[in-house]
Amino acid sequence: MHESAYARWLAFFDGRSGRELDAPLHAPFTDRPGRHAVARSVERFELGESGDGANLKRLAAEMGDPAYTRAIELFVAEEIQHAEWLGTLRRRFGGERLESHWSDSAFVALRQFGGLRREICVLLTAEVIALTYYRVLPLAYEDPVLDAACARILRDERGHVAFHRAMLGREFATMPGPARTASVLAWRAFVTATAKVVAYDHREVLALAGVTRAEFEHEVRDRTQRLAHAVRSPGAAADLAHAPAI
Ligand SMILES: [Fe+2]
Ligand SMILES: [Fe+2]
Repeated sequence: MHESAYARWLAFFDGRSGRELDAPLHAPFTDRPGRHAVARSVERFELGESGDGANLKRLAAEMGDPAYTRAIELFVAEEIQHAEWLGTLRRRFGGERLESHWSDSAFVALRQFGGLRREICVLLTAEVIALTYYRVLPLAYEDPVLDAACARILRDERGHVAFHRAMLGREFATMPGPARTASVLAWRAFVTATAKVVAYDHREVLALAGVTRAEFEHEVRDRTQRLAHAVRSPGAAADLAHAPAI
């Protein structure tokens, strides 16, 4: 039988599933200025990371590749795990569980309109921004659990970005050149606008971390540019065969 192009990604996610968070959960918490800002920021990302991924799983299943469908299920499970770890952080910092926030509702609404490609583009937007967010967040407050959770989530998110990049590279390779260029440009504009909103919404933790909003946005834009280049490059479809190390 012909092996799925996603077989390696399935093995990648399979190899990572069921891992615990290696963090000093019982380390004492030191209360200092900035605690509330971190709590408020974490609450919002917790909400963003949660969700059952039902729409994504349905769209993935429609692609008719069981390896991709299963890889997506394992990917969603990792995001749910992130929400749980952020819940741990939120309780540690004394935050409250959010039921809704406009930024999350906007993302969910956007993802409802369109097929799998659109869904992945919106997801990849959140992932790219997450790479900068989880790098910066531990700089905002000295805490060993915050450090460990962010380092771990960051590692997972790098895998997610590589996975979605590989999928989009393959999908975009089937599109006519001008349509591909238009899609990539639209996506880059969307990421830039979203990063601006996120930087504003989380400005308190950025200030605590000593990172300006402009620097945050710049880092996201830079990474997006490299990603867009990778997705459009002629060898992008071959990315599928190169799942990173677990
Ligand atoms: Fe995540
Ligand atoms: Fe992710």
